[in-house]
Parts: sequence; C-alpha cells; structure tokens
Amino acid sequence: MERNEQLTKIRDYVMQQFRDDATGHDFFHMKRVARIARIIAEAEQADLFICEVAGWLHDIGDPKIFVDPAKAYKELVLFLHSIDITPGEYEQILKASKDVSFRKGATPETLEGKIVQDADRIDAIGAIGIARTFAYGGAKDQLIYHDKHREHTSIQHFYEKLLKLKGSMHTETAKQMAMERHMFMVNYLEHFFAEW
Ligand code: NI
Repeated sequence: MERNEQLTKIRDYVMQQFRDDATGHDFFHMKRVARIARIIAEAEQADLFICEVAGWLHDIGDPKIFVDPAKAYKELVLFLHSIDITPGEYEQILKASKDVSFRKGATPETLEGKIVQDADRIDAIGAIGIARTFAYGGAKDQLIYHDKHREHTSIQHFYEKLLKLKGSMHTETAKQMAMERHMFMVNYLEHFFAEW
C-alpha cells in the first residue's frame, strides 16, 4: 500500500476512535499534532512518515480517554497490520507514540518520540491551548477562575502546566515554535486579570 493511502486510512481510523470526545482530545487535536510533528521532523531531519503517523496515533490507549486501553492497543496493532505497516515501522511508530501518552515526566527514547511529544506540547499552548484548557475545564465542571480557591480552575492550569511547557521542549525547532505561543498566553493572562 502506498504511503498516501496508508495515511488516509490512518486518518479515517483516528476519526472513528475520537469522534465523541469533548475534552480537547478530539480528531482535530490528532490532526494538528500530526501536522506539527511533520513540520518539526522536516526541520530536525527525522523520519517524516513515522513522526506523522505517531502524531495521529499518540493518544490512542490513553487511560484518560479510553475505558479499555489494552483493547485499544490490540485493535491498533491489527489495524496497522491490515494497512501493510511492516513490523519494523510498527515498532518505531509505537515507540514514538506510546512514550508521549506516558506524559508524566517520561522522556521518549527516540528522536521521533521526542518530536511527537514536542508537537503534542505545542498544541497545548498558544491560542489553541487556551481554547482547549477552557473546553477541558467545562467538560470537567471546573470554574474558569476563583480568586480565593484557585485549585481546579482553568486559569490555575496555566500556572501548573501550560506556562512550563515552553521550557520542556526537546528540539530546537519546537523551542522556537513555543516562544510566540507562550508570549501570547502571558499576554492573555494579563488581559484576563485586568478584566477580572
Ligand atoms: Ni495529545
């Protein structure tokens, strides 16, 4: 099967898997991460196909999203086999995408894994990051902000996570990409508190 056909089938597969998500881990998140991963891969001279595919698949089997992660992985293996992904490619893809979903401090081993993790983090900041944060907070019944009890508010999430992501990028390309998005969030918070 040709690369383009494989990528089309992967996109359709991801659309099926994430069609009901309202927490910001939807099809379009996967699409953006796949695209950003490819852009970083080009600049970093990594494997474009592996990065793009791993970008598409990086949230499959995430226990936050999937009720039965083991089943999700098993289905993924069968699916990749059915579109002629070789065992070697399959191992690289899984390595690059699985590392990302263990995002609690784990650093991916491969360059491709680092790139996909960077892409996932880039999509968590900037204008998109702001939108995803409030969408997630809404889905979890959290307040936008509370000036006495900040814990578990969407605004607090900026300080606990989003503003730190700029410093956690692995590749130079992602560090560059993160800067503008970071400044936009800082600016946004200034406006937010002025209006609050
Ligand atoms: Ni993700």
